[in-house]
Amino acid sequence: MNTAKRKTVIAGNWKMNKTPSQTAEFIKQLVPAAADAACEVVVAVPFVCLPAAVQAVKGSAIKVAAQNVHFEDQGAYTGEVSADMLLDLGVEYVIIGHSERRQYFAETDQTVNKKVLKALQKGLRPIICVGESLEQREAGVTEEFVAMQTKEALLGVPAADIDKVIIAYEPIWAIGTGRTATADQADEVNGLIRRTVAGLYGEAAAEAMTVQYGGSMNAKNAAELLGKDNVDGGLIGGASLKADDFRVIIEAARQ
Ligand code: 13P
Repeated sequence: MNTAKRKTVIAGNWKMNKTPSQTAEFIKQLVPAAADAACEVVVAVPFVCLPAAVQAVKGSAIKVAAQNVHFEDQGAYTGEVSADMLLDLGVEYVIIGHSERRQYFAETDQTVNKKVLKALQKGLRPIICVGESLEQREAGVTEEFVAMQTKEALLGVPAADIDKVIIAYEPIWAIGTGRTATADQADEVNGLIRRTVAGLYGEAAAEAMTVQYGGSMNAKNAAELLGKDNVDGGLIGGASLKADDFRVIIEAARQ
């Protein structure tokens, strides 16, 4: 982390876990840790848990994220949720393009881009996920692939909005596998993402951007990952579901 230049953001991606009542209970346990945190603390909860989460974080330092948003304003899109609906609840962030959404729900670079543009237009802060598969890493195309995903996600994003964007590098092979990228691997790809942003928006915008790492980050490895200059936070799945572990990760962001 380079805390002099940019904000560290520790975000828990709960995925399809916890009910609304568990949400309220769990967030209560996080409030004290977030109160004196050196970073921004975000919880990305299932849609039906958002009202409970927004209520539970009131008066605290914790921010709430959704895990997806539709790119149209409204209309005949059964099962979808719009940016206006999220904003009306008090949601501030939204994860866009998580690899599970790309893999299981047919999201593409194009739909990810449309969602990013809609989120920004409406005033939601997108956390854009990029990252290569194991096959791509072994084929040596990680750099090209992640740079391309980053560029496609940001197509048409006005320079005035780039400071609202967070990018999370999540190598698919490290998600939920217990196989974390080494701190050097995370630093390297996060650095590449930053250089890609610099190519599009200039050095200052890139230096100010929060670029997270995600993929089996946990209470044990967080400090080392977050110690890297280009790792400005984490997008945490499994370990964000346990209050004790998530608190340790928040504390690791203090360095
Ligand atoms: P895990 O921390 O469970 O590997 O999940 C990472 C992730 O996908 C966060 O978005």
